[in-house]
Amino acid sequence: MLLNGFFTLGVAALALAARTPVKRVAHETRRSLPTGWTPVRRAEPDRVLPLSVALVQPNLEHLEAYLLDVSHPDSPNYGQHWTPARVADTFRPSAESVEAVRTWLVEDGQIGADRIALSGSGAWLVANVTVDEAEQLLGTEYYVYQHEEDGREHLACHQGYHLPAHVSPHVDLITPTLHFDKKVTRHGSAELAPALGGSAKNIGKVAGPQVGGVVHNFFSDLETCDQAITLACLRVLYDFVYTPLAPQKNTIGVVEYTPQSHNASDFDVFFANYSKSQIGERPKLVPIDGGVLVAGGDPAESSLDLQYVLGLIGSKKQEVQLYQVGDPVEGASFNNLLDGLDKAFCTSGGGDDPTQDGIYPDTAGGGYKGEDCGTVKPANIISTSYGYQEADLTPAYMQRQCAEYGKISLTGVTFVYSSGDAGVGGRQNVCLNESGEQVTGGKIFSPTFPGGCPYVTSVGATQVVPGHKVTDPESAVFQRFPSGGGFSNVFPRANFQKGAVANYLEKFPPGYAPGIFNTTGRGHPDVSANGLNFSVAIDGEFRLVSGTSASAPTFAAILSAVNDARLAIGKSPVGWINPAIYSSFFTGAFNDITNGSNPNCGTQGFLAKPGWDPVTGLGTPNFPKLLSLFLLLP
Ligand SMILES: *[C@@H]1O[C@H](CO)[C@@H](O)[C@H](O)[C@H]1NC(C)=O
Ligand SMILES: *[C@@H]1O[C@H](CO)[C@@H](O)[C@H](O)[C@H]1NC(C)=O
Ligand SMILES: *[C@@H]1O[C@H](CO)[C@@H](O)[C@H](O)[C@H]1NC(C)=O
Ligand SMILES: *[C@@H]1O[C@H](CO)[C@@H](O)[C@H](O)[C@H]1NC(C)=O
Ligand SMILES: *[C@@H]1O[C@H](CO)[C@@H](O)[C@H](O)[C@H]1NC(C)=O
Ligand SMILES: *[C@@H]1O[C@H](CO)[C@@H](O)[C@H](O)[C@H]1NC(C)=O
Ligand SMILES: *[C@@H]1O[C@H](CO)[C@@H](O)[C@H](O)[C@H]1NC(C)=O
Repeated sequence: MLLNGFFTLGVAALALAARTPVKRVAHETRRSLPTGWTPVRRAEPDRVLPLSVALVQPNLEHLEAYLLDVSHPDSPNYGQHWTPARVADTFRPSAESVEAVRTWLVEDGQIGADRIALSGSGAWLVANVTVDEAEQLLGTEYYVYQHEEDGREHLACHQGYHLPAHVSPHVDLITPTLHFDKKVTRHGSAELAPALGGSAKNIGKVAGPQVGGVVHNFFSDLETCDQAITLACLRVLYDFVYTPLAPQKNTIGVVEYTPQSHNASDFDVFFANYSKSQIGERPKLVPIDGGVLVAGGDPAESSLDLQYVLGLIGSKKQEVQLYQVGDPVEGASFNNLLDGLDKAFCTSGGGDDPTQDGIYPDTAGGGYKGEDCGTVKPANIISTSYGYQEADLTPAYMQRQCAEYGKISLTGVTFVYSSGDAGVGGRQNVCLNESGEQVTGGKIFSPTFPGGCPYVTSVGATQVVPGHKVTDPESAVFQRFPSGGGFSNVFPRANFQKGAVANYLEKFPPGYAPGIFNTTGRGHPDVSANGLNFSVAIDGEFRLVSGTSASAPTFAAILSAVNDARLAIGKSPVGWINPAIYSSFFTGAFNDITNGSNPNCGTQGFLAKPGWDPVTGLGTPNFPKLLSLFLLLP
């Protein structure tokens, strides 16, 4: 195998030398491999890759301005969201970019023009090429990588890839190259709580909200909110009582990645204890790329998210969509979700003539044979409790995905993400070293993704302090896990938060040596909500489940009531809320959390302080104020 590889490489070098030399520039590089992956061998030179070139989208430099125009409370155009067609037209790659890349593939790569296709959306040029051809085109080497946990393999190129200097400005990124996009982790910390009831399921090594033992107490009254959180506790904490008025107009979606799944009978177990009128209610399954409910799948995340979104909305009349993403063979990533929500983001022509984007169609036995591109109309609010560390991904990949959250937000959608369950670092004390690599015991903070993307609303976690009443101020969570938060290494400080973050860093300087956290990065979370000891029905029994996994759906469900009220009086949904909630207009809309911290990386992390902080954001929702302020906006 190796010999063969060398031989082919030699030929490649000769072939390249024979042509006019082109000046190449590094287009994307990765500093470190995502945790767990090791190269095991050079890729076979004749293996065929679906090479996909994402073309640069024009007008992205105006994305923030377009969004502010419809999302800032001072803007006369507040709430006047764009149609999906206007979004697609505005960001469709130019003919010049298409030609520059096509010419490069044909002339430099000797890829026949008949092998190259433009995706239906006009956003990607795709061609099936051999590893050998790809290595010549991109000035790189492809390896097969293996994951230490389960031995699964992934094809990727090593360290970086290169493009001719005149082509690079027309390209966002190329796949498959540096990206390891398959596995998203749930936001929960790695250690399972000891199985008190003796029947705790192994919810998997990677992640997951923390699941406690079986609960036998009857948590029904508000005296025990410091021991277990129920719907009633959340209603009192956030003053959240609301009956939907426009359920036919409003939409909310909860995202789950297969094999995370739920046992439908658990809804009725949950409702029987906490919301009798909802017995029989179920979420509407909206599959993307073959998403199905898997018997025996991991039930903690889905059960938590869905029971609390349905329960907090509290009415059978309001449909809750379950975006179940990925088939049980391949699983899926955030990009697969976005493919499903936006045809223009997808590598395929739109589902008619599916082109593999690296995952779907899934050729494995039992795999989903289609690829869903723009098959789902995005709900007004989309809540996700999964995430990565920024160091798992490449900057270009994150920027493209983040821009997509922004583009979809232009149409009036709010993306709500949990901020992570490992304080300022990664799971199991994995933080960054000076080369930006993820190492156990690293001293440099490791931010999560996509919380650092300015176009999502990142939600941290709080808790009721033991021995305190539900009406007492909450603290940043300190039992079981620390709230994810900090400053991005990829996304610069967002304009909407400049004042709030400067206030924090000036009044309460964290006192870390330069380089421990990124003082110019986007700070998050933006807001927070309780995330400790939620009473959840799992396979017929109640468990206490913890994590920002709980905080994100709680916040999303409360915000959905705001959308309902606006829709009921003929206004638009709120869409991208960040510029509004950080503005002085929204003073008082959040309960400021001023106690606690988010330790990791051998430090206490950041401290929760008056005003915004990188532990609990602006604070927890004060529903009546949030509602009345959003109702005042046009
Ligand atoms: C690449 O190969 C796949 C599978 O054979 C095929 O479906 C697809 O149309 C090909 N793509 C192009 C651009 O030729
Ligand atoms: C649920 O309700 C049943 C019946 O009322 C009760 O026995 C049980 O303790 C409750 N469980 C919880 C966790 O509240
Ligand atoms: C959460 O539950 C655990 C037991 O599962 C308990 O030790 C802890 O005190 C609880 N904390 C709160 C604040 O409810
Ligand atoms: C960071 O860790 C990686 C992987 O262990 C190592 O190769 C690199 O040399 C380390 N960098 C520094 C500055 O310690
Ligand atoms: C800090 O963040 C900025 C983006 O705001 C980025 O350009 C820079 O590389 C980051 N620094 C480090 C050390 O990652
Ligand atoms: C769902 O939960 C019930 C108990 O409420 C259990 O009997 C059943 O086996 C579970 N189904 C699956 C597929 O795990
Ligand atoms: C404040 O947070 C600390 C943990 O950081 C906790 O021990 C303490 O009980 C909290 N106190 C209040 C009043 O919230």
